[in-house]
Amino acid sequence: MHPLLAPPTEPSRPIWLASDESWADLAEGLPEPARAFAGAQGFEAKPGSHCVLPKANGEILGVVFGLEGASAKHVDPFLPGKLAALLPQGVYRFETAPGDPTLATLAWLLGAYAFERYRKRPAKSVRLVVPEGVDHDEVARIANAVAAGRDLINTPANDLGPDGIEAAARHLADRHGAAFASIVGDDLLRQNFPMIHAVGRASATPPRLIDIAWGREDAPKVTLVGKGVAFDTGGLDIKPSASMLLMKRDMGGAAAALALADMIMGTGLHIRLRVLVPAVENAIAGSSFRPGDILPSRKGITVEIGNTDAEGRLILGDALALADEQSPDLVVDFATLTGAARVALGPDLPPFYTEDEALAAEIVRCGRAVNDPVWRLPLWQPYAALLDSKIADTNHVGGPMAGSITAALFLRKFVTAAKAHVHFDVFAWTNAAKPGRPEGAEIQGARLMYQLLKERYGS
Ligand code: BES
Ligand code: MN
Ligand code: ZN
Repeated sequence: MHPLLAPPTEPSRPIWLASDESWADLAEGLPEPARAFAGAQGFEAKPGSHCVLPKANGEILGVVFGLEGASAKHVDPFLPGKLAALLPQGVYRFETAPGDPTLATLAWLLGAYAFERYRKRPAKSVRLVVPEGVDHDEVARIANAVAAGRDLINTPANDLGPDGIEAAARHLADRHGAAFASIVGDDLLRQNFPMIHAVGRASATPPRLIDIAWGREDAPKVTLVGKGVAFDTGGLDIKPSASMLLMKRDMGGAAAALALADMIMGTGLHIRLRVLVPAVENAIAGSSFRPGDILPSRKGITVEIGNTDAEGRLILGDALALADEQSPDLVVDFATLTGAARVALGPDLPPFYTEDEALAAEIVRCGRAVNDPVWRLPLWQPYAALLDSKIADTNHVGGPMAGSITAALFLRKFVTAAKAHVHFDVFAWTNAAKPGRPEGAEIQGARLMYQLLKERYGS
C-alpha cells in the first residue's frame, strides 16, 4: 500500500464534496454542530476551499471541500488532491465520489510530493482510503514514477551530472530487468555520435549516450528519447544569469522518458521498449564547441552551429538518428528544448509536434483524459527554410521567430524511417503550485503517453 493511501477497512473521516450550488442541500443533512459551525465560518464551498467540521465533543467529524459547479469554465480533476496538504493528521475517505476518483487519488499523491533530499519536512500522516473502482497499484505506480522523475529534475547539477543521470537510468533498468548500455566520452566519437560528443566534451564529466532495452524482441517497437542536459550554461553563447538559474532542469525530458519507461515496464505493456538518453553538460571551457563550427552528425548531414545555447537539438539529433536505424513503430522524444515554447503556450501547456494526424488526436484526447494537457503546434514546412545554411547541409537555429517550430523541424531531419514520431517541447517546471502540482520540478507528457500506449498495447 502506498504510504499515503489506506484500505477501505481502516476507520476514516468523511470528505464531503460540494459546489456553491449543492452546498446548501448538503449542509441540511449534516449534524447540527457541524452545520452551525460551517455557517458561523461563512463557508460557501467555493472551488478549492475547505472546512473541517466538528462533532459536539470537539473531535473532528469530517471535512467539506468545495468543487467547481456545473457552470464553471474549467474543471480541474486534480482539485480534490489539494486536501492532502490542508487536512489535519488522520485517515480520510471520499464520502461524495469525485468526478474522476482515479485522478483525485493520483492528485492526492502527486500533490503530497516534496523534494527532501537536502532538508526533511516534519512528517504528517494524512492518508486517503482508496476510493471504489480505483486501481491502487496503477495509481501508486504512476505517482511513484512521477515522484522519481521530479526528484531527478529537482536535484542540482553538482549532485546529478551526466554520470548521475546514467546511474539513475541504470538503477531503473536493473529494477525492471532491462538491458543497459552506455557509450561514454571519446567512445562517442569512435561509434559515430559526433554531436553528443561536441556538446558535452567541455564538461569535467564526460558526455554519454544511455541505451535501455526491454521487452520481447518481436513486439511493436517503441523508442523513447529524452534530452539529458544536466546543466545548460548556454556554452560560449552563455546565458544571462536569470536564464541560467534553473538550468539544472534541462534534463527534464530525460526524466520524463525514464518516468514513462518506469510505468511501461512496471505494468508490462506488450512492446519492445528502447530508451535513449543523451546525457551531457553544456559547459564552458577551452574545449567547448563554438558558434560557427560545422559538426558532422550520425545521420550524415553537416550542421552549422548558429548558437551553442541550442545544444539540446544537437544531442537529440544523434540519438534520434540511432533510434531511427531500427525503423521503430513509434519514436517519442521529450525535451526542454526552447524558451519559445513557453512564450507561445506558457509553462503548463507543452506543445507537441507530429505529422501523424491520428496520433495527434489520440495525444490530445489522452492528455485531457489524464489531466496532462498538451497542445499541438504545426511542423510548418515553409519555415524549414529558416534553417538553411550557406556552407553546410543545415544550420541548427532558425532565428528569433517560431523558435519551437524550427527546433522541431530540425529534429525531424534525423527521423526518416520510423513509422511515427512525436516530439514534446516540455518546460519540466511548475512556477506556482497548483493542485497535484507542487512548485518545482514537473514531469510533463509522460502520463498521457502512458495512457495512450496502455490503450494500444495493454493486456
Ligand atoms: N534549455 C534551453 C531551453 C529552455 C529555456 C527550456 C527555458 C526551459 C526553460 C535550450 O537549450 C535553449 O537554451 N534554447 C535556446 C535556443 C536558441 C538559442 C535558439 C532558447 O530557447 O533560447
Ligand atoms: Mn541551451
Ligand atoms: Zn538546453
